[in-house]
Amino acid sequence: MTKLSVNINKIATLRNARGGNIPDVRLAAINCQRFGADGITVHPRPDERHIRYSDVYEIRPIITTEFNIEGYPSEKFIELVLSVKPHQVTLVPDPPGAITSNAGWDTRTHYSYLKEIIAVFRGAGVRTSIFVDPDQEMIEYASLTATDRIELYTEPYARMFKTDPAKAIEPYIMAAEKARELGLGLNAGHDLNLKNLKFLSKNIPYLDEVSIGHALISDAIYYGLENTIQMYKRQLAG
Ligand code: PXP
Repeated sequence: MTKLSVNINKIATLRNARGGNIPDVRLAAINCQRFGADGITVHPRPDERHIRYSDVYEIRPIITTEFNIEGYPSEKFIELVLSVKPHQVTLVPDPPGAITSNAGWDTRTHYSYLKEIIAVFRGAGVRTSIFVDPDQEMIEYASLTATDRIELYTEPYARMFKTDPAKAIEPYIMAAEKARELGLGLNAGHDLNLKNLKFLSKNIPYLDEVSIGHALISDAIYYGLENTIQMYKRQLAG
């Protein structure tokens, strides 16, 4: 079954808005796992406006599921991942000031660069994933870097889903088939929510993992964290 990795960046954003330690990010990670999350995702950015590098170190020892660190592979990020040794690292091409990730890698242009970094992480025993658009050529080049997985950028799916779900899912089914044909593991994420997740999951049943932050943490305000995580898991259960 597709695993649900909860991105807890938004918990850190809320904490940082006030200073102090409420809500407690470490406790949130413990509880997400207790409530059924199959993994925890963090996305430290250079300005540390959400998750801080120190949070990542503090969270590591309490992870009983799968820890996924995503981000742009700056020198500092690479150092962090090699020292924390999560189960998975997801490489994202977001520039330092970006509000959120808004595109996949151009794996053709950055092929040599990605291949080098992938080798470093795989050499350290960390599973790798590259964030890409659902584009056949980008997936082929990703595969040439020897990455273990790709993560499909689902924002365009989420946007079009509202008006034309069948059309929205089409490139993602093709991308998923391509990934499978190339022997790549498959993750997906961005703007997935309680409305669009089931349709994605039904159409791509062999997705390994989805990572969800913004909508899930927002839903938790109304439904509570435990209930919300269970609601998302039910979407993945078919
Ligand atoms: N996957 C990647 C690579 C991301 O950068 C993000 C956002 O940090 C997500 C998944 C989660 O997106 P959302 O917060 O919209 O669920």
